[in-house]
Amino acid sequence: MKFNIAVLPGDGIGPEIIEQAIKVVEAVGKKFGHTFTFKYSLMGAIAIDKTGNPLPDETLEICKASDAVLFGAIGDPKYDNDPKAKVRPEQGLLAMRKELGLYANIRPVATFPSLADKSPLKKEIVSGVDLVMVRELTGGIYFGRPQGRSEDGKTAYDSCVYTRAEVERIVKLACQMAMNRSKKVTVVDKANVLATSRLWRETAKEVASEFKEIEMDFMFVDNAAMQLIQNPGRFDVIVTENMFGDILSDEASVITGSMGLLPSASVGLLTSVFEPIHGSYPQAAGKNIANPLATILSAAMMFETAFNLHEEGKAIRKAVEKSIEEGFVTEDLNRTNPRKTNEVGDWVAQHI
Ligand code: IPM
Ligand code: MN
Repeated sequence: MKFNIAVLPGDGIGPEIIEQAIKVVEAVGKKFGHTFTFKYSLMGAIAIDKTGNPLPDETLEICKASDAVLFGAIGDPKYDNDPKAKVRPEQGLLAMRKELGLYANIRPVATFPSLADKSPLKKEIVSGVDLVMVRELTGGIYFGRPQGRSEDGKTAYDSCVYTRAEVERIVKLACQMAMNRSKKVTVVDKANVLATSRLWRETAKEVASEFKEIEMDFMFVDNAAMQLIQNPGRFDVIVTENMFGDILSDEASVITGSMGLLPSASVGLLTSVFEPIHGSYPQAAGKNIANPLATILSAAMMFETAFNLHEEGKAIRKAVEKSIEEGFVTEDLNRTNPRKTNEVGDWVAQHI
């Protein structure tokens, strides 16, 4: 088959890890007889530097016209330390989510048995953890209006807004995913305090009534934050609103001790976007030391989710697992004999 892939390397380590994922995608194409056209586009701080806009129109058009978007990372410290900066790289990301209708961010968190000792948690707590965080991505406090400052500048406000339809589609998606897993969905909210959370609960219960086999439970976000550390094995599919999902998915990402291994997919109305969950890691940019495996695994998710090609996805996962088992990995996972970013990319591509 033929696919058009928009490639947005972005900032920091983005370009070097994306390069490795592309090698692996090409290797999959060779093995399984697919061809790809890659369209490289600007996004993030690099796009601001070159065009003044973190998400140029041209990039958006290319994304819309593609079968999938492969994305590296965005963010540059020069913007983080300047609260007055008018344009920020993150605005590009939020605009992309909104424009492509990416209402669901899916982050699987699973333990690699050979890495159980990398976790900051005890081995017996993390072994066997296999959960998916489903975060609503285009609503809630990130996009709610009004947002801003009072005229005297002494008061600021953000609004958390959700419609029933927004909650319904994301909870449905979570239930559909759970049907292919252990059929357990945990809805995380703050229904004891927030009106939006009460709408979430009410709507989620209605959705659950359409999925008779799904066992749904509800948990307040503060409790969920605690249980993720105390007993992560109790979770299967977690679905939650935008801001809670932002926080909990970072928390969940360190459970396995291998943040550099976690991929994500953002799906919705138009083209889906695949990206590693880690950021632009500016300290490592250009040093050829960053772990490319999360981006390579994001490419696996792209084959499975966007192209419905499961054997291809599996081939990538198997090669990645092998590189981990054999210790052919970057310094974050192997201090004694670390490999470079490009060596890991070559190795995985060769083992497809
Ligand atoms: C993420 C990031 C973004 C978010 C930032 C960069 C706007 O933290 O993808 O989780 O908060 O959604
Ligand atoms: Mn985040």
